[in-house]
Parts: sequence; C-alpha cells; structure tokens
Amino acid sequence: MIELFIEIPGRSYMILIGKGILTQKKIELKNFCPHNKAVVVSDTTVWELYGGALGQALTEQGVDFTHLALPPGENNKSMRTLESLFKTFYQTGLTRNDPIIALGGGVIGDLAGFAASTYMRGVPFIQIPTTLLAQVDASVGGKVAINMEEGKNLIGSFYQPKQVIIDPDVLSTLTAREWNAGMAEVIKYAALGQYELLSILENHFSLNEHLEQIIYLCCKCKAEYVEQDEKDYSVRMMLNFGHTFGHALEKYHAYSRYNHGEAVAIGMALAARAGALLEISEEGTEQKLLRLMEKFGLNHRLEDDWEQIIPLTLNDKKNFSGGISLVLLRKMGEPIIKKVLLEDLMRIFREEHINYECR
Ligand code: NAD
Ligand code: GLY
Repeated sequence: MIELFIEIPGRSYMILIGKGILTQKKIELKNFCPHNKAVVVSDTTVWELYGGALGQALTEQGVDFTHLALPPGENNKSMRTLESLFKTFYQTGLTRNDPIIALGGGVIGDLAGFAASTYMRGVPFIQIPTTLLAQVDASVGGKVAINMEEGKNLIGSFYQPKQVIIDPDVLSTLTAREWNAGMAEVIKYAALGQYELLSILENHFSLNEHLEQIIYLCCKCKAEYVEQDEKDYSVRMMLNFGHTFGHALEKYHAYSRYNHGEAVAIGMALAARAGALLEISEEGTEQKLLRLMEKFGLNHRLEDDWEQIIPLTLNDKKNFSGGISLVLLRKMGEPIIKKVLLEDLMRIFREEHINYECR
C-alpha cells in the first residue's frame, strides 16, 4: 500500500492507495467513528458494485451505518439533493463527530463533501473515490461544491477530508468513456510537470501494471500545489490547465454532451493552441501534448465554432472582466499563468484561420 501525507496546517491527512483495500475489505474506518456510527453517500451504480464490500467492512468493525444511494449523474450536485442529504443526516441522529463517507466518483465526493462541510457547521468526511478522475484529482485537495442552474460549482467550500482511501481495483468496472475522462486529468498532471508520470505515459501502452504508481504521482503532484495554496489564490490555479475552455464547452452544451474529463481534454488542446499562437510555447509542445492524448484515445478535437466557445470562458468564476487568466505551457512540464485580453485571443485565433478543429 502506498501512503501519501498531505500537509495543511490543522487539516493534514493521509491518502492511502492500495489494490484491494476496498474490494478485499481491508479498509479501516473504525478510528473515524467514535460513536460506531456513519452515513455512506453513494450512487446506485457504485453501491451495487462496491456497497457490499464497504458495508461488510463497516459491520465487521462494529460500525452501524446508514446508506444513501442516489441516481448517478451530475444532477445530484444540486440544492435539492443536498437538502435530502441533510434530512437523512438529521433523521439518523448524526452528531458532529460522526463521519460522512463518500463512495463514488467526483459527483458523490463533491456533493457529500459539501454536505459534510455545512451540516452542523462541519462533520468529518472520508473520500473513497471510485472513478479514475476522482482517484487522481477530485478526491484530493478539499474542493467540494454543488451546481446552480447558472453554472457549475458555484456554491462550495474548501473542506479537507480526514482520509482518502483509493482502491485501483474498482476501476476495472468503469466504462471506456469514464476511464478516458480520468485519463484527461492524468495527462494534465503529466503536462504540469510530473516527469515520472510523463515518462510512464510516453513509454507504455498498457497502464494496468502502473496504475497504483500513476494514481500516486497524480495525487502527489496535486498535493504539492494544494499544500502551497489550499484556497486557490496562486499556484493551485495551474491545476486549471484546460479547464477554462473545458468549463466553457461543458456550459455551451448545457452539461449534456461532454463529461468533465472529455471537456478538459478538448480544453487542454485549445490551451496548447493558444500557447503556440501567443508564442509562449516552445516549438513542438502542442504536438507533444496532442500525441499523448491520441495515444490514449482521447478526443481533443473541438467540433463547435471556437468563436462561440471562447467568449463563454469569461463566465468562468476564475476570470477577470475583459480578459482571461489562462494556464499555458512553455513546454511539457512547464506551465505558466498568463492574463490574456479576450479580444487579443480572438484576434489571434481568427488571424490564424483556425477552423473548428484543434490541430
Ligand atoms: P461521476 O461521479 O458522475 O461518475 C461517473 C459515472 O461512473 C457515474 O455514472 C458512476 O455511477 C460511475 N461509476 C463510478 N465509479 C464506478 C466504478 N468503479 N465502476 C463503474 N461505474 C462507476 O463522474 P466523475 O467523472 O467521477 O466526476 C465528475 C465530477 O467531479 C464533476 O462534477 C466535476 O465537477 C467534479 N470534479 C471535482 C474536482 C474537485 O477538485 N473537487 C476535480 C475534478 C472534477
Ligand atoms: N481540480 C482543480 C483543483 O482542485 O484545484
């Protein structure tokens, strides 16, 4: 088992990564349950697959638990579902010391984490991520949120879990589409400067035997950014590589066409294009990134008119009026944040006559 300590004064925690931790019921949760009580939040797909293993482990450790299995999907990150969670917490008599355990992908982690951060002004929270995207990214770093009709993650907080427990074996049941969504975030970490990860991705086709190491390297990279800038005022913004355009694309399609990872892959390609056009990137950087995405079967082509997508980036909460704060690559492994006036970006894209496809 790999142990990674994430150090944030007063809110440090351990990330445990090990094949079979959940599926072979080696998970240890008793220490987090002082009253032998917990609430597990999951979705129906995940609960059907892995609820039994978690439930048996809790029962064997003498923990009495209530579980909530929501229908899968982004729609769960809503006020309505949040309220139903609070009602269940209340009805089960959850106290301030009893933990909420999130078993699922990023949707469940974000929702249950936000509920934990606000119920009774904060109750303990444990992440057991079950998608690649959540194992390498969403479960680490304490960003928890729900959506508004007006936009994604508009209501949220920074609330670190007490522990993150990652079993790569659960990824065997993911669909190819969900696997690819996670691979987009994995490639993001390679682009941000995780050279060991970049080398694994460049030198291997089958990632199965490297899975624990890949997850560890992504979490380590994220932990380093989060430890320096938990609240996302400076270096943590680097983690938004591809996300500014990705969020715009998700919004353009009303969150129905692309999942988060798919949109991020196209967003990274657009950011690489911008880096090349603004003459910030070393020659060949864009091609190197695109080759990596292609190698792992990720679609990076923008099929919509970029003139419609790029202005939508202004709605991204991290941007300032008139311009956009973009994460660009000087080269693979060397990101920088650059403020670019929207009109400049539009002009450069237009002058280059790029069509609807990212090169
Ligand atoms: P998700 O939680 O919707 O899961 C995707 C699908 O996979 C669901 O249908 C789920 O039932 C299924 N699933 C989950 N685990 C499975 C397994 N082991 N086997 C089979 N099926 C399984 O989506 P996601 O991609 O994990 O997360 C996306 C969400 O994460 C978005 O809301 C995004 O905003 C958020 N996110 C948050 C952060 C953060 O830092 N908090 C970072 C990135 C993304
Ligand atoms: N996923 C971006 C962040 O956690 O900051």
